[in-house]
Amino acid sequence: MKRVAILISGGGSNMLALLDDMASGDHPARPVCVISNDPGAGGLARAAERGLAVDAVDHRDYRGDRPAFEAELTRRLEAYQPDILCLAGFMRILTEGFVARWEGRMLNIHPSLLPKYRGLHTHARAIEAGDEEGGCSVHEVTSELDGGPVLGQARVPIVPDDTPDALAARVLSAEHQLYPAVLRRFAAGDRTPVLL
Ligand code: GRF
Repeated sequence: MKRVAILISGGGSNMLALLDDMASGDHPARPVCVISNDPGAGGLARAAERGLAVDAVDHRDYRGDRPAFEAELTRRLEAYQPDILCLAGFMRILTEGFVARWEGRMLNIHPSLLPKYRGLHTHARAIEAGDEEGGCSVHEVTSELDGGPVLGQARVPIVPDDTPDALAARVLSAEHQLYPAVLRRFAAGDRTPVLL
């Protein structure tokens, strides 16, 4: 049984989708903690309501000193001895040192069909480019931002007069299907991409 730590920065809807799926009997992993870089992140209260151990390391306390922030984050994480880290709406860019420490066992969900639209404002960029499809990707985290091996993708049609917010909402519900499916396979040692 793999031990999973989830890192969040906000409301945590992807985190909840992972928890729901791991709560079903035949899952090869179980959650051990939810940690945020923002003590006020709404997702922490939602995880605590589910009986999960929660914690926060406020990145603002480190005044931009990423290695010091990450050293404390790693110290907190190691207390739970996770086998897998899931970034779920975790909005801090991680240093090469942190990535090297967890490489091969750290996943992230990104709201675009990678390698298209790394970074921010993915839905507006897809609409502006006249794409017919948007979507989301789960990838392994490497030192290249949003650049690691893709382990799953879900495609979402872009409709006429679409708006970034409307597309984001449809993609978010696709994320809630994709991320649990990828984690279930990854925790079983299978890196075959999930395509939805
Ligand atoms: C998601 O769209 C995810 O792809 C992006 O941040 C958003 C987080 O949403 N990285 P939530 O906090 O999981 O609801």
